[in-house]
Amino acid sequence: MTAIEYIQQNIDSLNWQRNPRGLYEPIEYTLQAGGKRLRPALAIMASDLFDGDRQKVLPAALALEIFHNFTLLHDDVMDNASIRRGRPTVHVRWNENTAILSGDQMLIEAYKLLSQVKPDRLPEVLYLFNKMATEICEGQQYDVEFENRDDVSLDDYLMMIRLKTSVLLATSLQIGALIAGAGQTAQLALYQYGINLGLAFQLQDDLLDVYGNPQTFGKAIGGDILCAKKTYLLLTAMLKADPQQKQQLSLLLADHSISDQQKIHAVTDIYNQLSVRQACEEVVKKYTLLALAELDKIPVSEEKKLILINLAQKLLARKE
Ligand code: IPE
Ligand code: IPE
Ligand code: MG
Ligand code: MG
Ligand code: MG
Repeated sequence: MTAIEYIQQNIDSLNWQRNPRGLYEPIEYTLQAGGKRLRPALAIMASDLFDGDRQKVLPAALALEIFHNFTLLHDDVMDNASIRRGRPTVHVRWNENTAILSGDQMLIEAYKLLSQVKPDRLPEVLYLFNKMATEICEGQQYDVEFENRDDVSLDDYLMMIRLKTSVLLATSLQIGALIAGAGQTAQLALYQYGINLGLAFQLQDDLLDVYGNPQTFGKAIGGDILCAKKTYLLLTAMLKADPQQKQQLSLLLADHSISDQQKIHAVTDIYNQLSVRQACEEVVKKYTLLALAELDKIPVSEEKKLILINLAQKLLARKE
């Protein structure tokens, strides 16, 4: 069974038939809506790399996916996003209080699962998980603060996405490897693979937010533009723009008199004039290659690494 199939099966068998329904139904709704299951799959793949027992990693893998879904409930409130995985977001389908409280409960469910990790590994797993969770909050705070700043650099952006996105992928891999008994060097190489994969992943997410197909992407196109998110696309556009285009972009992003569609269209038009899509694709490739290079440091056969090599290449071409 592939790692994804294994995870999917176990997520499907979680039981959310508890009361009050208003608390648990949104959790079920979120976890049954699909999603790539990337983070728990990474934990299982990392364990497979060292012939670990999948069942020993499973509670932590499920915790990582539920934790990820918790962040999405709150993130969609923060980003004013109305569609995820092709369905209305929880705060739209129910309300903001529901997204807050069901989200909180998902965080608690994640820790309940985490507490099932075998006692000999639990302190280390908890340490890594907590460190990651704090970094995500830090990243999310920067992400929101950057909306109202016009002095954000590309380095600031990379620091922010490392925190909000990369550390979760990296920690999923490290926890999988740790529970499977991998040594420190391999754990760290996998963590770095995850960091670089995560940078490529978030850069690609930002790209799809403008250039994706809403059917396959499952989210509304242009959300980042409407929030004036300081994405790689926007920052690169600002760097490449002539003074007139620069002023045009700034005015557009702050304009409340035009429709959402007009704004998205006009900003995308400037992105196209400046070829920022191509620039972004180049850095996605760069970080994918940096991720792949980390795998060379892991002392297992090339054959065993194939799954992680293919994953990085598949994510490079993803549309969802
Ligand atoms: C969404 O993550 C949040 C980002 C870090 C871009 P995914 O794109 O992995 O979302 P799902 O779980 O597959 O829906
Ligand atoms: C996701 O960033 C980061 C977290 C949820 C922690 P985005 O805000 O870009 O994710 P999407 O696009 O809503 O999935
Ligand atoms: Mg968002
Ligand atoms: Mg966000
Ligand atoms: Mg996004």
